[in-house]
Amino acid sequence: MPEKPAEHTDRSAVRSLLRLWPYVRPVRVRLFTAAFVAILASCLSLVIPLILKWMVDGPVADRDPGGVWLGALYLLLLGIAEAALFGFRRWLVARPLAGVEASMRADLYRHLQRLPVAFHDRWPSGQLLSRGTTDLMLLRMFLAFPLTFLVGNAATILVGFLILFAQDWSLGLVLLAPAVPLIILCSVFEAKYSLVARKAQDQVGDLTTVVEESVLGIRIVKGFGRHRSQAKAFRALSQRLRATELGKARLLAGIWALITAIPELAIGAALVLGTIQVADGSLSAGTLVAFLSTALALRWPVESIGFLLAMSQESATATDRYFEVMDAAEEGAPAARKDAPSEPYAPDAPAGMVFEGVEFRYPDAEPGSPPVLARIDLQVRPGETMALVGGTGSGKTTLTALVPRLHEVTGGRITLDGEDIATMERSRLRELVSVAFEEPTLFSATVGENVLMGAEDADEDQVRRALAVAQADFVHRLPQGLDTQVGEQGLSLSGGQRQRLALARAVVGRPRFLVLDDPLSALDVHTETLVEAALRQVLEETTAVVVAHRPSTVMLADRVALLSEGRITAVGTHQELLRSNAEYAWLMSGAEPGGAGPEVTSPDVRSVAGGPGPATAGTPTQQVPVEEGSSR
Ligand SMILES: Nc1ncnc2c1ncn2[C@@H]1O[C@H](COP(=O)(O)OP(=O)(O)OP(=O)(O)O)[C@@H](O)[C@H]1O
Ligand SMILES: [Mg+2]
Repeated sequence: MPEKPAEHTDRSAVRSLLRLWPYVRPVRVRLFTAAFVAILASCLSLVIPLILKWMVDGPVADRDPGGVWLGALYLLLLGIAEAALFGFRRWLVARPLAGVEASMRADLYRHLQRLPVAFHDRWPSGQLLSRGTTDLMLLRMFLAFPLTFLVGNAATILVGFLILFAQDWSLGLVLLAPAVPLIILCSVFEAKYSLVARKAQDQVGDLTTVVEESVLGIRIVKGFGRHRSQAKAFRALSQRLRATELGKARLLAGIWALITAIPELAIGAALVLGTIQVADGSLSAGTLVAFLSTALALRWPVESIGFLLAMSQESATATDRYFEVMDAAEEGAPAARKDAPSEPYAPDAPAGMVFEGVEFRYPDAEPGSPPVLARIDLQVRPGETMALVGGTGSGKTTLTALVPRLHEVTGGRITLDGEDIATMERSRLRELVSVAFEEPTLFSATVGENVLMGAEDADEDQVRRALAVAQADFVHRLPQGLDTQVGEQGLSLSGGQRQRLALARAVVGRPRFLVLDDPLSALDVHTETLVEAALRQVLEETTAVVVAHRPSTVMLADRVALLSEGRITAVGTHQELLRSNAEYAWLMSGAEPGGAGPEVTSPDVRSVAGGPGPATAGTPTQQVPVEEGSSR
């Protein structure tokens, strides 16, 4: 199960809910007016008993039908006014609160886009989805109803008790007596309820994750006939959620029963005492009627408190969950302010793309485990194409992800034409560097829009050229050409077609630096040859790093860097490395290492996808000090 990135100890619902203020601020006038209207409406209902009292002690006692009619008219008018006020309150809040929800959702989305890749590696997407949907809906509902009701009902209870005490303070005390146990019960309930509410909302997130994954992975699910086991997993999760929801309902039912029963007992006791007083003549019948009907009018405000508290708890939880994401730090602005902000150009750093002592470990790596990349020193000269070769899991993808700063280096630095990427504005960095990843990701948009993601302001000619380079001419044969809609994740295209579009996207802006992670893996030999021929032209104009698994891709490059277990172990031309480096020869040909090198880590380089171990005896001896021109 996905770990919950949150801990919830020592949290106060009020403090959580107060964090909503910045979003509520713009609509505060309407919200406060709504609360005021709610108070007014509730207080109107308290006037009704007073009219009753006047009727009983006045016209009824005097047998004056005209007075009774007048009283009835007053009551009718009061009822109409109350209903009108309730309607007005709803009208006041409905629209602005939809706006609050929309702006919170927009903020969440914007924030999610800016959170570092490491955050998304850690968080299941369903948890993020549920925060953007269910939780925000809960919050809107809370602001619309429970919040104003909570305020309105509290005011009503207060005013009601003042009236009760004014009528007869001894009977008032009888009614007030249950307040103490009720308050204690409510606080116990709140503490318990907040825990299950949190659990339920997290479980909704887990459930969303399962649904999302199985929809995205529907091909695998079907291909392996996993629908039964997927359904089982889903059922198990939804059973868990159901159990939690039942727990919630049980808690709510319990508190509701107590909140209803205890005041009822008190009203009963007051009725008995009051009747005795009326019989004694120490209390007028009208006062008793007024007293009891006031008490009855207070029943709903008191009873509703249980479920209002429950909704407030859920909303506090939703707020917590929302802000857990919002509080996660966005990708740093130009980070390295610490060293020489006024001098982004390191005078000694050479041009091209240079890795200097780069070290990287994933944020969620076990403490003490060896870094994924260590002591990477590499210079890609201006205009040069460097192939990056290495066994699977050696860190090639990780290294390429550091250049566009999808991950931040944890040691050393990377410079582009002498400028440290850590001090660069991200927008500038993304202009300089273009990337194409192993798994070509397309969006449900048109083909043209997908390509234009690489450079928004590219014109039609540039798109045409990029498509030509990527040998993506199939686009012109699609029903609507560039305007053809691509299915979700580009799944309506073939793997090779997707790869070529992703390549076109990478080259459309004619970036100065190009990073390609094995961009030709899904192409047939003939298409690959065509793409390579065209790519050769693009590579001539840029400084590029190309991850390569096959000799044919390596041929595109001027030089090759061999990555072995997170270290650059050799740099040179393809021919040089073939001759002098056993691991390289093995990777390129599958042949057994020749006499030159010692035993190479052949089998595990291919099979082990786990973390790279520390440099072992298996590492080739030819530890080339990897600097400019150092390879022989
Ligand atoms: N997001 C991540 N979090 C933690 N570890 C990761 C993450 N991504 C990759 N790794 C680990 O980092 C190491 C290097 O992975 P990387 O993807 O860079 O290998 P690669 O050289 O691109 O392999 P391949 O040739 O199979 O694409 C692997 O051991 C992998 O398990
Ligand atoms: Mg890779």
